[in-house]
Amino acid sequence: MPTFGRAMLEHWLLDPQYTYLNHGTVGAPPRRVLDAQQAVRDTIERQPSRFILRELAFEQPAPWRPASRLREAIEPVASLLGSKADDLVFVSNVTSGLNAVLQSLPLTPGDEVLVTDLGYGAITFAAQAATAARGASVRIVEMPFPLRDPQAVVDTVTAALTARTRLVVIDHNTARTALLLPVARIAAACRARGVPVLVDGAHAPGAIALDIPALGVDWYVANLHKWAYTPRPCGVLWAAPARQAILHPPVTSWGHGRGYLGEFEFVATSDPTAYLAAPEAMAIIAEWGLPAILSYIQQLAWNAGQLLTTRWGTALDTPREMIGSMVTVPLPAAAGATDDDATQLRLALLTEDTIEVQLHAWRGRLWVRVSAQVYNDIADIERLAAAVERRIACR
Ligand SMILES: Cc1ncc(COP(=O)(O)O)c(C=O)c1O
Repeated sequence: MPTFGRAMLEHWLLDPQYTYLNHGTVGAPPRRVLDAQQAVRDTIERQPSRFILRELAFEQPAPWRPASRLREAIEPVASLLGSKADDLVFVSNVTSGLNAVLQSLPLTPGDEVLVTDLGYGAITFAAQAATAARGASVRIVEMPFPLRDPQAVVDTVTAALTARTRLVVIDHNTARTALLLPVARIAAACRARGVPVLVDGAHAPGAIALDIPALGVDWYVANLHKWAYTPRPCGVLWAAPARQAILHPPVTSWGHGRGYLGEFEFVATSDPTAYLAAPEAMAIIAEWGLPAILSYIQQLAWNAGQLLTTRWGTALDTPREMIGSMVTVPLPAAAGATDDDATQLRLALLTEDTIEVQLHAWRGRLWVRVSAQVYNDIADIERLAAAVERRIACR
């Protein structure tokens, strides 16, 4: 068992001169996973057409292979997610997987897709584009703020459902506010009203314990390249068996009409190496131990919230059950309040204090979102606290 903390940086290529508190934004694969990806690339390049045309995708396993390369690679990923391998396909990222579901929905004029104001902007755009194309529309539900009780999310979503609601899109772990939303409870409430649920789980695998089928949702899309240590880009789409037949990938290719697995695995020429390196990422998670990883990163995120709010005299209005591997903390009012203030402070932290952290303006003040990974420790958070204090003193 490794000891988590700064010494773990030896497993990453991350520049040790920087305090990296932004794992959630685009992830960072460990060295071993990148080596495994390179090994896959080397294997492909020995016989590229044999690998890509005859070994890669579903239905393709040549007589010399027991299963296709993609089906083999998805097996350990399915274990991490509590899923059956047959319900799971690789997609390049959560955006393309969510687009697949949104574009596949049989919408008609007047129908509504419900999203929340905590959702990721690009996904709201995707929902708007997919609905507008068919005369339907998106309703953006405003969540109570601050969110002190997860039940308030369930109640707000439920109250916004109408006879025209055809889909609810909900984040498992929100991007800016870093809140864990009660997806299973929302799904139960929507199911009782006959409304299917699509989950944006961009930050979930590797950051929280997951059993996707147990959530009772209809579709779940996630990134593995953020918290599950795979190379970029690597996402997965899970569909409940009854919801698979309608699905098509956003780009139509040779898989058209070949069923769920065929549709998503014959997707023209692409680079499959990130997907095929996923088993190495899953092996690392198994070696270090998922419970140990989750307990360390979630505790560090919580401690970061406590430390920063204490140091800065601000408040974390969030119950512990809504915090995963990231925490979003308000800065003191003296740090500024505008987008410009956020950009300047973020840049100064990066270029002068060598701290990479997500920082943004929202609801009239600045917020910092701290990601906690096994290579971080509380000293990183103390560095951030002190650097922000120094910057405020110089304003
Ligand atoms: C909640 C959420 N959804 C979607 C995305 C988009 O991820 P990607 O660009 O990998 O598709 C992000 C990225 O940070 C996110 O935080």
